[in-house]
Amino acid sequence: MHNVARSTMTQSIITTAKAIGFAAVVAFAPSAFAEAKTIKDGVFTQAQVDSGEATYNSSCKACHDMRFYRNTLKSWDGQPVLWMWESILGTMPADNPGSLMLDEYTDVVAYILSENGFPTGETALDPDVNMADISIVAP
Ligand code: HEC
Repeated sequence: MHNVARSTMTQSIITTAKAIGFAAVVAFAPSAFAEAKTIKDGVFTQAQVDSGEATYNSSCKACHDMRFYRNTLKSWDGQPVLWMWESILGTMPADNPGSLMLDEYTDVVAYILSENGFPTGETALDPDVNMADISIVAP
């Protein structure tokens, strides 16, 4: 009788462990299979970098050197690049927030990423298409 109870309990522990294991697999599945991209994956073009550099020099350079963005990117680590773009759009340039064209903000972000060592690629960064699905990683 005692043995039966024990083996039932053992069985239920094994079942629970399997259930937890299965839940863990399910919980990790979305990030494993959704082809999550990061800014390391060549998510902006050289043309965006070139155009962003010109805008950066006229609208941002007076107040920020490139070192500034290493900490900024660290603070956005793991967040979608869209959120940083929205933050810059809403607050910068500090003396005239929102004054640039949307494309100019996107290109400035591409330039900042490039200057911090992230690679260019074939596909353009686009807030309407892909920026919500690309994560920032610390440089
Ligand atoms: C007139 C000065 C000025 C200009 C021009 C300016 N900024 Fe800023 N920026 C600031 C100040 C002040 C802060 C807030 C202080 C801080 O975070 O160190 C700031 C903060 C930031 C941050 C940090 C925000 C965050 O949430 O992490 C980013 C990124 C940034 N600026 C990007 C830009 C970009 C890109 C441009 C050009 C489009 C720009 N800034 C133009 C003064 C300026």
